[in-house]
Amino acid sequence: MSKHLITSALPYINGVKHLGNLVGSLLPADVTARFFRQQGDEVLFICATDEHGTPAELAALEKGQDVETFCNEQYEIQKDIYERFGLSFDHFGRTSRPQNEELTQHMCEVLSENGYITERTVKQVYSAKDGRFLPDRYVEGTCPFCGYERARGDQCENCTHLLDPTDLLNPHSAISGSTDLEIRDSKHLFLQLPKLSEEVSKWVLEKKNIWSPLVYSIANKWLKEGLQERCITRDLQWGIPVNRAGFEGKVFYVWFDAPIGYISATKEWSDIDPANRDWQDWWYDAEDVIYTEFMAKDNIPFHTVTFPACLIGSKEPWKKVDQLKGFNWLTYYGGKFSTSQKRGVFTDQALDEFPADYWRYWLMANAPESSDSSFTFVSFANAINKDLNDTLGNFINRVTKINLKNFGEEIPAIGSFTQAEVDLGSRLNKLINSYTENLNKLSFRKALGDLRSIWVEGNNYVAVTEPWKVVKTDKDRAATILCISFNLMRIFAILSYPIIPTSSEKILLSLGIKTSNPGWIKGDIEKELSFFKGGESFIPLDPLFNKITPERIEELTSKYGKEEE
Ligand code: MF3
Ligand code: ZN
Repeated sequence: MSKHLITSALPYINGVKHLGNLVGSLLPADVTARFFRQQGDEVLFICATDEHGTPAELAALEKGQDVETFCNEQYEIQKDIYERFGLSFDHFGRTSRPQNEELTQHMCEVLSENGYITERTVKQVYSAKDGRFLPDRYVEGTCPFCGYERARGDQCENCTHLLDPTDLLNPHSAISGSTDLEIRDSKHLFLQLPKLSEEVSKWVLEKKNIWSPLVYSIANKWLKEGLQERCITRDLQWGIPVNRAGFEGKVFYVWFDAPIGYISATKEWSDIDPANRDWQDWWYDAEDVIYTEFMAKDNIPFHTVTFPACLIGSKEPWKKVDQLKGFNWLTYYGGKFSTSQKRGVFTDQALDEFPADYWRYWLMANAPESSDSSFTFVSFANAINKDLNDTLGNFINRVTKINLKNFGEEIPAIGSFTQAEVDLGSRLNKLINSYTENLNKLSFRKALGDLRSIWVEGNNYVAVTEPWKVVKTDKDRAATILCISFNLMRIFAILSYPIIPTSSEKILLSLGIKTSNPGWIKGDIEKELSFFKGGESFIPLDPLFNKITPERIEELTSKYGKEEE
């Protein structure tokens, strides 16, 4: 039995996430957690909201709320959406909880004791009107290189020149528009990444044949370019206070405390039931743990270089990531999903339109693994109609109908296998092996191709054996075919459970199987095909899926838009 720690990148608190965020970390992490649990492994699946930083402050300001109220509200909103998507976190925490404050401050202390933190005074823009220091990107003005009038203090979007806020002509606050800006001195803490570069490089090199080329090459590119020292503190009110003399009123930079949130959210989990849970078992001196992280590609540098550097620099035995699954972008009709421009389908809207399983299926079948992939309602409808309806759904409906007509609400008795069953078994064996291996390798698109082929076997089996005809001449043989078909339903439900848990549960319940962990299909396929022997009763299911009509696609595309602005 393996011990799997699984984390998804922590979704930022500033608003409801879109489908791209879901497929880029949360959903594949859930599929993996479910899959490993079904293997009988011990799994701890942890996530949290990432709550600090300027974007949270600004989103709260926009809503006219104080940041804490805003975060409390948004946390509940996101948590509820993820529950409705069936994300099976063992704990969904918050980086704003005391556990994270304590651990973040501790990390800074030990990094400092080990000589990896230095203090330095920097010049920063202060806005009197806003009553605060402005992060570089919140100072706007005219680009000295190209004359673009809305250049940001960190970079000109128009000509891509990197800038300092002091380079801008006519600088003003992006928050209030005020031009009453002054430059003030401010003391900050810097993480000495260059001093850790050798050890981090050595550790990354060990992952060369473990991480995918996408992940490894991003990590390697960062290391090759040479690590720079990084400022880990900010002049903000909202965040984790820097516990150090002379740093009153300052907080840690959000990217310093966010990944520590993985550990502190685990501590939240164990603080709920300390007699039975121990967060250190998973994080501290935890060589027996296999740790897998899920994230979109923009997060990869922080997880392969910066955060491991902090853990290494602490000289404490923190668990570091083993496998890291990175994703490319999901696009919306070839363009960007955009939270600020409200472009695309957001997770709350998605659930208003269709059941979670529809989305889970399409997203996993089209996960942006080796390249970006594009969401369109036509592609979505095709997958739901062809795969869920015509393949899985149709098989269940057909078998149920024939059975009700001839044997009522009871699974009929199994007889001996013929060549058809032997062939079915050997094809299933191959497909299930491949499916299991692909899930183990986190190759989701391939895995879903296998799952689809497994469902197809059901329809093929009834098409070849024709129980509706056979029943007229050989009732025993028809009974065998139908019994085998009910066994197929069970097999399909178990194998589909990581992807479409709600539908799978319904199938299992209709077959009289009530369980929170259905296990897996391993080993002897003949045994699995005769799990039900006949005489068991079942509850006929209403159709599990509904087709998406061309009219509905039309309606959805006009509601959500499809052209790039
Ligand atoms: N909130 C970040 C994002 O949306 C991800 C944080 S992951 C963590 O990109 F490791 F820092 F927690
Ligand atoms: Zn410019």
